[in-house]
Amino acid sequence: MTRPNPRSAGILREMGLAPLWRLRGAEDEAAMPMSVEAPVVPAVASAPVAPPPSNVAARPTAGRVASPVMPRAPVRAAAPPEAASAAPARLAPAGDVVGLDWDALEARIRACDACSLCKRRKQAVPGVGDREADWLFVGEGPGAEEDERGEPFVGQAGRLLDNMLASVGIARGNDVYIGNAVKCRPPNNRTPETDEIAACFPYLRRQIELIRPRLIVALGRPAAQALLNQEVKIGAARGKLFHYAGIPVIVTYHPAYLLRNLADKAKAWEDLCFARATMGRLKQAEGESAA
Ligand code: URA
Repeated sequence: MTRPNPRSAGILREMGLAPLWRLRGAEDEAAMPMSVEAPVVPAVASAPVAPPPSNVAARPTAGRVASPVMPRAPVRAAAPPEAASAAPARLAPAGDVVGLDWDALEARIRACDACSLCKRRKQAVPGVGDREADWLFVGEGPGAEEDERGEPFVGQAGRLLDNMLASVGIARGNDVYIGNAVKCRPPNNRTPETDEIAACFPYLRRQIELIRPRLIVALGRPAAQALLNQEVKIGAARGKLFHYAGIPVIVTYHPAYLLRNLADKAKAWEDLCFARATMGRLKQAEGESAA
């Protein structure tokens, strides 16, 4: 075992995990072994990482440009049959966001009045980050500070999210896009309703089509349910690999939840190790299929 370097020690301290010995080799992405994955729950729903299915355009290895059209219906590879019937209602695809570019999409989000959340928002919060990122982190919805500033995860939970990003070797604005299941602040920071998530989903879907991330991390239950279109319990979904439109999805706790439930930070750390190892395998698989 090796001691954490000062930066990762800071991350672990922020996540409430220090003092802790680092996983051997976790610094080195190229050398990241499968053992780093260490999901806590057996990955009963996990699928091996494979090149994208034929109905999803393969990601070019460099210099990605315009987005291809991805299938509109989510692939429910990991959904057990009985869960499908419990799926929350989702609006029909919003034809008016299909094909929008980033500027038009963000303008549409800022002007949106598709649900009642628009009435009390100061501003809609479309999302932030690298528009060609490998990583997409999806939260629940803006809080008070985000509503004020127009950027997701800028409050206390955002500081923890930044440290979670650092633990997988990324930073806000660099190879990660951060968005939310709903783009407007729910009053009093309540959990967004199913119909609000459904009304907002076309925006998230279009963002995913434009970004074409390699891997999506769903932060908390509303984000996971929006993406997977099924009831999700984070404790049961952790450590499994789901898919949205052929893109692997990993589920973990929301940073705001972790701020209130310090004991679960260790589980979030394991989830991030799983995510990091999965990203390594995705890149490796892509390299192999391109060879
Ligand atoms: N919590 C979220 O889910 N999203 C934000 O943007 C801020 C806090």
